[in-house]
Amino acid sequence: MKICQTIAEMRSDQGARAKTGRFGFVPTMGALHEGHLSLVRAAKKQSEVVAASIFVNPTQFGPNEDFAKYPRTFERDCELLKNEGVDFLFAPSAEEMYPKGAVTWVTVEGLSDKLCGRSRPGHFRGVTTVVSKLFHIVEPDIAFFGQKDAVQLVLIRRMVRDLNMPVEIVGCPIVREADGLAMSSRNAYLSPEERKSATVLNRTLKEIRKHFDQGERSTSKLLSAGIKIFQQEPGARLDYLEIIDPESLHAARTISKEALVAIAAYIGTTRLIDNGMLQSNLVV
Ligand code: PAJ
Repeated sequence: MKICQTIAEMRSDQGARAKTGRFGFVPTMGALHEGHLSLVRAAKKQSEVVAASIFVNPTQFGPNEDFAKYPRTFERDCELLKNEGVDFLFAPSAEEMYPKGAVTWVTVEGLSDKLCGRSRPGHFRGVTTVVSKLFHIVEPDIAFFGQKDAVQLVLIRRMVRDLNMPVEIVGCPIVREADGLAMSSRNAYLSPEERKSATVLNRTLKEIRKHFDQGERSTSKLLSAGIKIFQQEPGARLDYLEIIDPESLHAARTISKEALVAIAAYIGTTRLIDNGMLQSNLVV
C-alpha cells in the first residue's frame, strides 16, 4: 500500500492507474471499524485498484464539537487497510488540504440545512466541500459511502449529479454490533453504562419498523410509537427523530412507497446517529 501525504504524490501515478482498470475510492476520517472495512471490501469487489483516504476534516466540525478529541489511530488503520489489499492511502494534513485563505465552498442548497445540518450548522458544507476536493485529487471512477450516514449520502449523490462529476456513487449497508448499535468511530467515547444506553437509537427505529410492518402509515403515529421507546432510556437525549422522503428529505405525513427514518441522539455528551428505510411490500 502506497501512503501519499501530499496531493502531488497522490496525483503522480494517476496515468498508470488509469490503464489498470476501474479505480475505486473509500473516503474516511480514520479510527476504522468493520463499517469502514465493509466499504473497502465492496470497493475491492467492484474495482481493480482501490484507494482510501484518512482525513479528519476540520471544516465539518463546529466550534464546540469533537474535532480535537476525534479518535486518531493512524498506525492501526494503515495495518487494517493493508490487510484488506488497499493500493493507495491518501492521508494529507489540514494545511495540505486547505491552502491559507481558502474561501471556496460546495453547498447543496436546500438539503444541507436539514436533519444533522440543522443541528450542526456548516457540517454538510464541510462534508461536500472536502468530498469534492478528494474527488478532484484522487479522481476515482467509483466511490463508496455508508448508508449509516444516509443524509450525507443523499447530499453527495446530489452534488455529483448537479456538478457533473464523473464518479459513480455506491451506497453500502449499515454494519452493526451484535446488539444493533450502528458501528461508529464515536462509539469509542461511550462509558460501559452509556454503551448500553446507546442501543436506544436502534431500538427506537425497530419499534417504528414494527408498527410500519403492522400496517401503520401515519408518520405522526409511527413517530409517537418510536418516541415512547426512546423516552424509556434516561441516559439518552433526543436531537431529532424524523420520517422523510429519501430524496427530497422533506417530512411526509403518510408513507405511500418508502421513507427514511433518521434519528440523532446524545448519549451523555456523545452524539450518535442511525437510520433505516421503510419500504412498503404492498407497492411494487
Ligand atoms: P467517517 O465517519 O469516517 O465514515 C467514512 C465512511 O464510512 C462513510 O461513508 C460512512 O457512512 C461509512 N460508515 C461509517 N460507519 C458505518 C457503518 N456502521 N456501516 C457502514 N458504513 C459506515 O463520513 C465521513 O467519515 C466523512 O464525513 C467523510 C465522508 C470522510 C468526509 O470527511
